[in-house]
Amino acid sequence: MSSDPQEITPDQFGIEDASFRAAGGESGLRRLVADFYEIMSTAPRARRLYAMHRDDLEVATDKLARFLCGWLGGPSQYREKYGPIRLPMAHAHLPVTGEDRDTWLWCMEQALERQPYTESFRRYLLRALSIPSERIVAVCEHMRGAGQGRSA
Ligand code: HEM
Repeated sequence: MSSDPQEITPDQFGIEDASFRAAGGESGLRRLVADFYEIMSTAPRARRLYAMHRDDLEVATDKLARFLCGWLGGPSQYREKYGPIRLPMAHAHLPVTGEDRDTWLWCMEQALERQPYTESFRRYLLRALSIPSERIVAVCEHMRGAGQGRSA
């Protein structure tokens, strides 16, 4: 197997730890997430999404980077530090709308542009992330409908 992330071919994405390696492993994912939050904290269009976060962005950054490690087939770093997680439910208390989802994915797209990834991996990752994002919106809308969410 190749150790050069650039040499991992699209047919390998999603198999074992190929996506984790294509993302540059733990250090690559930490750079991606740092860029993601830097963009979210400065882009005017992300103001509402950014305001949903707690003051301590360091924790949010650590959690997302660790989650993505395991999600992309690498070590289960989130679980090791924070315990088990059900991703949509972890967002259920938030007032997430379809517009917030689009903004989240836009921040990620901008962050992906800054990484030394292949274009096919960027596209693959963005498409893959859109799937849990849909679930998150559905759960948050359901919770709001049930009157259990925080009002926006
Ligand atoms: C619909 C798009 C999304 C929105 C609007 C959103 C928003 C948020 C917000 C506001 C938080 C709370 C951060 C804090 O407490 O400071 C959070 C936490 C988190 N998000 Fe998302 N997120 C989205 C999609 C995703 C996706 C696609 C993933 C991973 C594939 C993800 C992974 C996480 C993780 C791991 C946490 C920490 C959960 C915890 O430990 O409580 N999010 N998200």
